[in-house]
Order: sequence, then C-alpha cells, then structure tokens
Amino acid sequence: MAVVESREWYLASYAPEGIPTSDHLKLRTVTLSLDSIPERHVVLETLFISVEPYLRSRVTGREDGLYSPQFNLNEVLSTFGVGRVIRSKDGDYVEGDIVVSPFTPFAEYGVVPSHLLTRKVDPNDGIPLPEYISLLGVPGFAAWVGIEVIADPKPGSNVFISAAAGAVGMYAGQLAKLRGCRVIGSTGSDEKVKLLKEEFGYDDAFNYHTETDFDAALSNYFPHGIDVYLDNVGGKMLESALNHVNKNAKIPLCGMISGYNKVWTEREGVRNLLNLIGKEVNMQGFMVFILASFWGFCKGDGEPPKARQDWF
Ligand SMILES: NC(=O)c1ccc[n+]([C@@H]2O[C@H](COP(=O)([O-])OP(=O)(O)OC[C@H]3O[C@@H](n4cnc5c(N)ncnc54)[C@H](OP(=O)(O)O)[C@@H]3O)[C@@H](O)[C@H]2O)c1
Repeated sequence: MAVVESREWYLASYAPEGIPTSDHLKLRTVTLSLDSIPERHVVLETLFISVEPYLRSRVTGREDGLYSPQFNLNEVLSTFGVGRVIRSKDGDYVEGDIVVSPFTPFAEYGVVPSHLLTRKVDPNDGIPLPEYISLLGVPGFAAWVGIEVIADPKPGSNVFISAAAGAVGMYAGQLAKLRGCRVIGSTGSDEKVKLLKEEFGYDDAFNYHTETDFDAALSNYFPHGIDVYLDNVGGKMLESALNHVNKNAKIPLCGMISGYNKVWTEREGVRNLLNLIGKEVNMQGFMVFILASFWGFCKGDGEPPKARQDWF
C-alpha cells in the first residue's frame, strides 16, 4: 500500500492572549495511506500556504472579534493555499492537478474533501503560483473591497493606509493610486517606508515606531485631512486618524492587528468616536469570506474578472 510521511502543524492548546508559542502549535509526523482515502477526497501535496493574521483569531478558544470558527484541539491547522493533487477519488481531479483551497493543511500532505477545492490552476496562464493566495487571494480581494467597494475614492482624495507594507496594504495603496488619490502609509520600519515609496507607489510613508506621536504625524502628512482611512491595525492609530477625518470620510475597517494578541478588555480603546457623528463619517467593517463574489473571484469566474486582469 502506498504511503507518505507528512509533517503537520496541529493545535495543542488555545492561546487566548499573548504570542502563540510551541506550547500551542506543535509539529508531528504522521503516515498517510494514499489508497484508503474516502470518495470525493483528494490527497494534496502542499506547495504554498498563506499565513494570515485572521488565523490568530482561530486559536484563541473564544468566539469574538472576527468570529472565525475555532480550530479544534488536536486539529491540523488549515488556510488558503496552493497544492498538487497526488491521489484523487473524484473524477474531476487527476494526479498532478494544481489546485487552490481555503482549507489547505499546514502539512506536507493532507487529505481534503474535493468540495473544498475552489479552483484548478491552468498551468499555461502564466501566473506565478503564490499570486493565487496573494493578489488573487484574500489580501488582494480585501484590498479591492476596502478601496474599490467601500471607500470608492475620487481622484485627488487623501488616503491613509496602515500596515501599508503588508499583503493587503501593498495592493490597497496601488489601487488607490490607480484612482488618482494621494496615498500615505504607515509601517513598522524604515526599510518598509522605502519599499512603500520606491516599489509600491505610495506618495509618502512613515515609520510608526519612530514617529510615535501619531496625531502630529497625521497633521504633517495630511494638512488637508483624511478622506479615506483603510484601517488594518485599530487601537491608537485608528483613534488618531479619527482626529483628522474630513466631512463624509470613509473608513473601511479591514483589520485591527494591534489587538490580536490581547483579550478585548486589554486592547486600546478609541475615545473619539464622536468625530464620526460631527463629520458624518462612514466607518464599515467587512470580511471577505462573507461576500459571495469572493468565491467566484477565487474560482476565476466571478467578479471582478476584468479588474483582476487589469491589476495583474
Ligand atoms: N477583513 C478581511 O476580510 C481581511 C482580509 C485580510 C486581512 N485582513 C486584515 O488586514 C490586516 C493586514 O493583513 P495582511 O494580510 O496585510 O497582513 P500581513 O501581510 O501579515 O502584515 C501584517 C503587518 O501588520 C503589522 N503589524 C503587526 N503588529 C502590529 C501592531 N501591533 N501595530 C501595528 N501594525 C502591526 C506588521 O507590519 P509593520 O512592520 O508595518 O508593523 C505586519 O507585517 C490584518 O489586520 C488582517 O486581519 C482582513
């Protein structure tokens, strides 16, 4: 009987706060039998996985915040990824197919139900495989929803993006630039500031570890106020941005990574929400997973195929 040995990461205990360690996530080696998989399942060899911030919320042991389902104890973690089919019990897939799945195991090999494969990759489409979980995956789609759908900025709008050099921010900044906006980003190192300005097309950027008075920094970078703030970090940065919003500003809430390692009572509060009322600001949270078009987008046949090609 054909078998493969596979190393896999599994959840050993929940981490309600702090940085998860090897007490919470552990590696083990298992033997998978390739010939005894259930009908309508495939064995995937994992090629690429996307280690995304929302995964932090799936190992806290509590349902709140992002409301992502918790992994069970002893369960192998899974995420968006690209894999190669090495065994198939589904007529739609053959050995060698390259597929994308939001449930790709954090493992060398894993058995995945075929209904959880969102698309087959055409090897002749010329798109590098990592792009299926980056530009064409969650980060690219989140950037698109935040900028194109919720913010919908006009040319000349002043756009601020936090965690700007991250997977979402690097696309969001470029989308806003394509709309003719003035785009400023915050990030955590001088090297990333350089990257934002020289590679990702941002008009300017600052390092929030060295420019620690966020209010002063935003006064400096936004003398005419902020029309759009794509929030990826929450906390103090969100609070400061609310002091600089223009009338009818849009604030797509994409993520609040500054609080992911804290229970909610320990996170920094935002004390100036009143500004939203006076300036009639629209602040809106969103999750890409709940948008039906996301799944079509993953499959390559949904909205927005034209936009997707254009970005590329
Ligand atoms: N709503 C959705 O559907 C959706 C989808 C995808 C992502 N998101 C959210 O979007 C945000 C960015 O995700 P991503 O995929 O771009 O992540 P990423 O590529 O992993 O980048 C995350 C970056 O966040 C910054 N960061 C970490 N801790 C921070 C803190 N305490 N304060 C400020 N910045 C911090 C770090 O960059 P620096 O060096 O700049 O600090 C880090 O590299 C996250 O909040 C994520 O949860 C939401």
